[in-house]
Amino acid sequence: MALRLVAAFLLLCLATAAPAQQVVSWKTGREAQGIERRIDALLRQMTLKEKVGQLHLSGRGEGFDINQVRSGEMGAVMNFVVPAEVLAVQKAVRESRLKIPLIIGLDAVHGFSTYFPFPLGQASSWNPELIEQAAYWSGREAAAAGINWTFAPMVDITRDPRWGRTLEGAGEDAYLGATVAAARTRGYQRGGVATTVKHFVGYGAVEAGRDYNTAWIPTSQLFDVHLPPFKASLEAGSMTAMAAFNALNGVPATAHRGMLTDLLRGKWGFRGFVTSDFGSVTELRLHGIARDDAEAARKALLAGIDMDMMGDAYHKHLADEVRAGRVPMKALDEAVRRVLRVKFHLGLFDRPDVDPAAAPKLMQTEGAREVALQAAREGAILLKNADDILPIRDSVKSVAVIGAMAVPEDERVWTDPAGLGRRVITPLPDALRERLSQDVRVTFEPAFTKNCGTEFADKQAAIRAAAESDLIVAMLGEDCAFLGEAASRTKLGLPGVQQELLEALVATGKPVVLVLATGRPLVLTWASEHVAAILQTFHGGTEGRAAIADILTGRYNPSGRVPMSFPRSVGQIPIYYGQLPTGRPERPRERYSSIYMDELNEPLYPFGYGLSYSRFTYADARVSAASMPLDGAVEVSVEVTNAGPRDGQEVVQLYIRQPVASLSRPLRQLKGFTKVMLKAGERKTVRFRLEAARLGAHDDEGRYVVDPGEIEIYLGGSSRAAVKAQVRLEKS
Ligand code: BGC
Repeated sequence: MALRLVAAFLLLCLATAAPAQQVVSWKTGREAQGIERRIDALLRQMTLKEKVGQLHLSGRGEGFDINQVRSGEMGAVMNFVVPAEVLAVQKAVRESRLKIPLIIGLDAVHGFSTYFPFPLGQASSWNPELIEQAAYWSGREAAAAGINWTFAPMVDITRDPRWGRTLEGAGEDAYLGATVAAARTRGYQRGGVATTVKHFVGYGAVEAGRDYNTAWIPTSQLFDVHLPPFKASLEAGSMTAMAAFNALNGVPATAHRGMLTDLLRGKWGFRGFVTSDFGSVTELRLHGIARDDAEAARKALLAGIDMDMMGDAYHKHLADEVRAGRVPMKALDEAVRRVLRVKFHLGLFDRPDVDPAAAPKLMQTEGAREVALQAAREGAILLKNADDILPIRDSVKSVAVIGAMAVPEDERVWTDPAGLGRRVITPLPDALRERLSQDVRVTFEPAFTKNCGTEFADKQAAIRAAAESDLIVAMLGEDCAFLGEAASRTKLGLPGVQQELLEALVATGKPVVLVLATGRPLVLTWASEHVAAILQTFHGGTEGRAAIADILTGRYNPSGRVPMSFPRSVGQIPIYYGQLPTGRPERPRERYSSIYMDELNEPLYPFGYGLSYSRFTYADARVSAASMPLDGAVEVSVEVTNAGPRDGQEVVQLYIRQPVASLSRPLRQLKGFTKVMLKAGERKTVRFRLEAARLGAHDDEGRYVVDPGEIEIYLGGSSRAAVKAQVRLEKS
């Protein structure tokens, strides 16, 4: 009896420490109908001011007026990360007339208290289950702090690494992008926060990679390349979407009725709400389509923007626009309905307030840190490993770790939940010392200041330490101003003094292992010719340095793959594997062929590429039938063998090409991938299902066409996959 009591008490303690998980999902059937009735009832009670209030999103900081919450003039808040502050706004709601709960948003884009690799680094793992787990823990931690809405996933496809926000997406490919978008959406919402699929649409294609610039995207590309990840996220249940800052084909995305209303709601049946981006409603003035904020508010609402983020334009002008008859009450009611619908489906009317005492216990839990470590390991890409210099050999008795990037102060671009949980990020030299045998001397010299690597600290000390070692591990990359929003670049070399440093390290004659932490693929042409090994990470997060040490010492066999082509020079951009053929074959020695005079066409490291300490071979590609009807499917299989000396994971990739069709089709298109673990010497049959319906393309009217004809199938470990099979698509 006593034992049972103790057990019951322990269970009770556990339950208080970890409140029941709120899984976010769209309700269906009767429950959904019931919600619509509750919305009808609420709408009948709401004043014009209260309705407009639901569309007003304001943020922590200067100008935030909590009285607007009390007076029912604010429907959503953002950037509150301290649970006690979240609680204060939740309490203010209860002083309002209708007590409609707030939606509480934050850019929890790659974690909350535990940081996972940047989304591009997560995509590099090519492991959707792991990516889903990372999103789950990000959502769970944010939810424990009272947040119920994350401004993620960003699913913008980009083929231009000059764009600073490259790090927030999944790279260049629609199929990989859609798979990652769905995984992240599922994960966050399972963790208890509604997602915001963003930025709708075309932001990743801003001209010349300059942030906020215009995007010109032909309809066929819009549907085949840029929209699939949005569709995938919405199909996975994303409750909200965010409009982009840029103009798309001349129309600012924040006023793009064709996209926001006709496509998103009309064709795709989206029932959630769309928020503007930060101040993008008032930016309609600067875009040159509104004379003042009142006109901007009107145009945005009528185009399909339900919520005005940090713009104040709805708050100040929408009621007058309705009174003057320029915005029909029906349009306003529809927008309010969508916001309330999300609040009901999210369960906000029934959720308890945040418990500030419980929140810290739910940060950086063992579960979250394990996933962070695995995501950082699987997201690191081994780009070069000459003479198998890695993993570090037993003969190496001294390692010089050079570069301030080895000791990060932080690993975040967005959130800073001050005071929540531990913030332990093991520096690389310490992580190496823990893993190497005691007789190996590990020294560390930062070499440059943490001022984005622009100035040398003690260069000579770094060169001396390097020259005295058996192996140099140079940890370099992009930090500070080089990452994220408004961080576009025209030169894609190592920032500041880092190239000079790298050259000096190479000049010592000691082998150099270059470890990179960047927010995008850099131009690594010089490095690729002069260093012994390159390990690419996209800022690995809380466990990033531990993961690097695991890889350098051979505790973990690298398995990351390139999510975005690495250019040889900036002049090749935009560069991506799925190009269309031209009328001119690439024949390097002929004058009138489609080549550069001064550079190869190929990227330095292609999409899908990445080395392992094992070696994988492919053979026996088979297709279950020689042909299939346009609504049919086949099974494709291939034998994959780990011919190397170590157990390892391989990303088996399937690409297709239709050489003759009604439209010119890409040279290769990813249509399937799976990450498999193979023991040394093991052989596995890997199978894919290939449906004919997925093999079509959109024309410039937006019509989807699946053409009969031959389909070439390529299987292998990168977009250069060489093992071939084929199937014929036949008219039924
Ligand atoms: C970014 C969004 C972000 C928002 C809120 C904007 O500047 O473009 O992606 O969600 O700020 O922080």
